[in-house]
Amino acid sequence: MTQDELKQAVALAALDYVVDGAIIGVGTGSTANFFIDELGKIKHRIKGAVASSEATAARLKSHGISVFDLNDVDNMPVYIDGADEIDHSGAMIKGGGGALTREKIVASVADKFICIADGSKLVDVMGQFALPVEIIPMAEASVARSLRALGAKPALRMKEGKAYVTDNGCHIIDAAGLQIRDPKALEAQINQLPGVVSVGLFALQGAAVCLLGTEQGVKTLKF
Ligand code: 5RP
Repeated sequence: MTQDELKQAVALAALDYVVDGAIIGVGTGSTANFFIDELGKIKHRIKGAVASSEATAARLKSHGISVFDLNDVDNMPVYIDGADEIDHSGAMIKGGGGALTREKIVASVADKFICIADGSKLVDVMGQFALPVEIIPMAEASVARSLRALGAKPALRMKEGKAYVTDNGCHIIDAAGLQIRDPKALEAQINQLPGVVSVGLFALQGAAVCLLGTEQGVKTLKF
């Protein structure tokens, strides 16, 4: 199976976690896009969705799914999203698609994070994928220095020759070369650096379930 077929399989399996009549939190990225396309087919069963990015909001709306402002939503049973890496405790690296801050905010309101990922995303120790850190632009050099002191090789994310700009008007530093053996501690440490908007480590509030696409079918990991 191709990676896209594995992503499609987990997107379909995630429909089992959609709660009838509820508002669903929806992530960002290619796996989340497959999920949105499946959600469009059962849209009559849900009240609507909260989007973790402008791109996701546009895709949800293109399927005729109502998109709610998070400020108008008190609770959500589930948040469904992909990951760049996930470890055996349910901690994740996210933000490859640049939506880490809104993803973390929407996920924090949901009762359960359901991670949907192809099998290549499951790792013993995270860090092979450079850790995204969203920053206020004036803090680029100071945060980069702090990340270097933690053993990382930081690089400002670029797009078309300019600094990549998030939906929040901020920049992203990708911190390569880390071996993340204590993701909760590292998340707390990077979170408190002045100028950091959020770090793409989702460990303090990780996944409750991961639907992992493998050649042997969709595996359900519970944490
Ligand atoms: C976006 C994300 C994505 O969930 C992550 O990058 C995985 O993307 P994909 O499903 O395309 O592999 O965190 O900010």
